[in-house]
Amino acid sequence: MADSVGVIGGSGLGELVGGDRRPVATPYGEAVVTVGELGGREVVFIARHGAGHTVPPNRVNARANAWALACLGVRAIVSTAAVGSLRAELAPERFAIADQLVDRTTGRAGTFFDGADGVVRHLPFAEPFCPELRGLAAAAIPDAAPAATVAVIDGPRFSTAAESRILREHGVDLVNMTLCPEVALAAELGMGTVALCFVTDTDSGNAHDDPDAASAELVFRRLAAAKLRITTALERLVGAVPDSYAPRPTIDDDAIRIVLARPAVP
Ligand code: ADE
Repeated sequence: MADSVGVIGGSGLGELVGGDRRPVATPYGEAVVTVGELGGREVVFIARHGAGHTVPPNRVNARANAWALACLGVRAIVSTAAVGSLRAELAPERFAIADQLVDRTTGRAGTFFDGADGVVRHLPFAEPFCPELRGLAAAAIPDAAPAATVAVIDGPRFSTAAESRILREHGVDLVNMTLCPEVALAAELGMGTVALCFVTDTDSGNAHDDPDAASAELVFRRLAAAKLRITTALERLVGAVPDSYAPRPTIDDDAIRIVLARPAVP
């Protein structure tokens, strides 16, 4: 049987697939998954912020989520992310496919290989996203910008004008609060990720009175208005992942087996 595709729904996508939400005990606490159908195939869905957006970006249990997906046989993860844009050409309401990350988060549990049980590995991460899945996404969603560099900040506050300017000057295109450490943790467990970004705002704004400058109200309004577009794009992308998909090798299988054999806590 084909592996399930993992789907991590970002803000605005708390209840993407029908089916029973069920808790999965992991060594890192509980993850909540829904096994359902999307794009004509079985998916394991996780709402990153919980069904009712009750989990702020700094409290997402990314280790529990990645561990649960890997244990349920997921090899490909398709995620969505709300982003602010630092580039005029990536205007609000556009899609973009992330191809690089700049990790500006602090203090998040960012690895399964923290030395706790003597297993130390160093993830090759020059290409954080899976090139094959990115290619599938570009073909399935032709109006999406095919490559964007995303800086991930702690949040939950948005950036200052100076922070936005510095990021822009350093080549960053988009800003988000959750793709780190999620993408690295998935790779540490041998899963490939593609992130479909949806631009909700112009971050700290392009002018004094920029109506597109980030606010929670604007972000959620834009996400709600685009829900059908985002869901349709996701369905296309999930449906395009071939049964034969195999992620690029990152960490050796022995190390992954050791992590997945760690006891779950109830
Ligand atoms: N998510 C949506 N818009 C954002 C922004 N401007 N900064 C960080 N995360 C975001």
